Amino acid sequence: MINNSKLKIMSIFGTRPEAIKMAPVVKKLEETDGIESIVCVTAQHREMLDQVLNLFDIRPQYDLNIMKPGQTLSEITCRALKGLEKVIREVQPHMVLVHGDTTTTFVGALAAFYNKTKVGHVEAGLRSGNMYSPYPEEVNRSLTGRLSHLHFAPTEGNKNNLLREGVREENIIITGNTVIDALLSVVDDNYKFDIDILNEIDYKNKKVILLTSHRRENLGKPMENIFCAVKDVVEKNKNVEVIFPVHLNPKVREIAYSILDGLNRVHLIEPLDYEPFANLMNKCDIVLTDSGGIQEEAPSLGKPVLVLRTETERPEAVKAGTVKIAGVERENIFKLTDELINNKDEYDKMANAINPYGDGKASERIVKAIREYFGERN
Ligand code: UD1
Ligand code: UDP
Repeated sequence: MINNSKLKIMSIFGTRPEAIKMAPVVKKLEETDGIESIVCVTAQHREMLDQVLNLFDIRPQYDLNIMKPGQTLSEITCRALKGLEKVIREVQPHMVLVHGDTTTTFVGALAAFYNKTKVGHVEAGLRSGNMYSPYPEEVNRSLTGRLSHLHFAPTEGNKNNLLREGVREENIIITGNTVIDALLSVVDDNYKFDIDILNEIDYKNKKVILLTSHRRENLGKPMENIFCAVKDVVEKNKNVEVIFPVHLNPKVREIAYSILDGLNRVHLIEPLDYEPFANLMNKCDIVLTDSGGIQEEAPSLGKPVLVLRTETERPEAVKAGTVKIAGVERENIFKLTDELINNKDEYDKMANAINPYGDGKASERIVKAIREYFGERN
């Protein structure tokens, strides 16, 4: 260990999914002797980040508070880089940890590099192979990989992607995905919601669809197609209830409310805290989503997922048969959803609990690898 002093590890994150997936790592760092855990949030998201910080009782030492309505990618990049430069220079951590593929992720790694600080990349090695889909995440994660010293790959496939790009094997650790650590800590079969509508739904007799959509490349026509397909599904199938916690991005909200507001059996609600959201996923029948994290969580709860995108960087659950790529065309999304509602065999084929993304011990492996990297044998 460096100079017998504590290892200073700074976790940097800014959006809801990063917070959910970094929370178990931060908790593990906090309880580990010999480590000083420091959290810096860019707050690229504000309310949706705070929901997660409150749930996991994480109090960041640094909060850059950069979010602005309608923020562009360049604006987030500039504001985060400027703020992070100052914080990293002041704290001088031994390592910065970033997660995944957001603008905060890439900029966190870049700011660390400019200060010659080591970088650990949590959820490393996911690749779609298309630099514009997901946009800009595919490029964010590749560039972050280039700037990282330790790569925490959730799966063997993710490790292979990194090896193909020339990353040295000894710097890649297969850990599983920390999202499973987070999920296991909040899902409870006896969970009761605080929100009336979620308690009133007849989960036994209705087909309950959980919908989310927010991807930048889906804004506009693809998202209109998605919501029109959902409308078609609800109009045809009178036993269906749709719950859609709508992302706070005003561009998403405008499309969602213009197509789905006021429809019978469609519930547009505010983004849920992680605990009710995970438990809703556990109770619903079908998940329709363009989210990355939800593609990892739902399979472990045995819920069929239709991915509202044209590709995925998470092929493991597709291979296992729990996830299907539905694309962004109205007819195909309608057809696949309708089939899951009305064809029991098809439903049962997809509704298998599988866990290619982890066993709930990813954070433990990450912290162990960091200690070993700095010379502490566990
Ligand atoms: C960002 C990430 C994306 C991730 C997604 C998770 C980038 C480039 N994109 O999406 O990878 O999947 O977060 O949700 O990093 N807003 C609020 N309050 C909030 C959050 C958002 O009002 O708590 C509104 C703001 O008007 C903000 C807008 O939503 O300007 C979009 O936020 P942004 O972080 O830019 O979202 P995305 O790029 O869509
Ligand atoms: N999630 C949540 N509340 C919601 C919707 C999603 O807590 O209302 C959680 C979900 O369980 C997953 C994460 O947020 O862990 C996914 O975030 P998002 O879809 O915003 O981003 P992505 O995973 O696509 O980057």
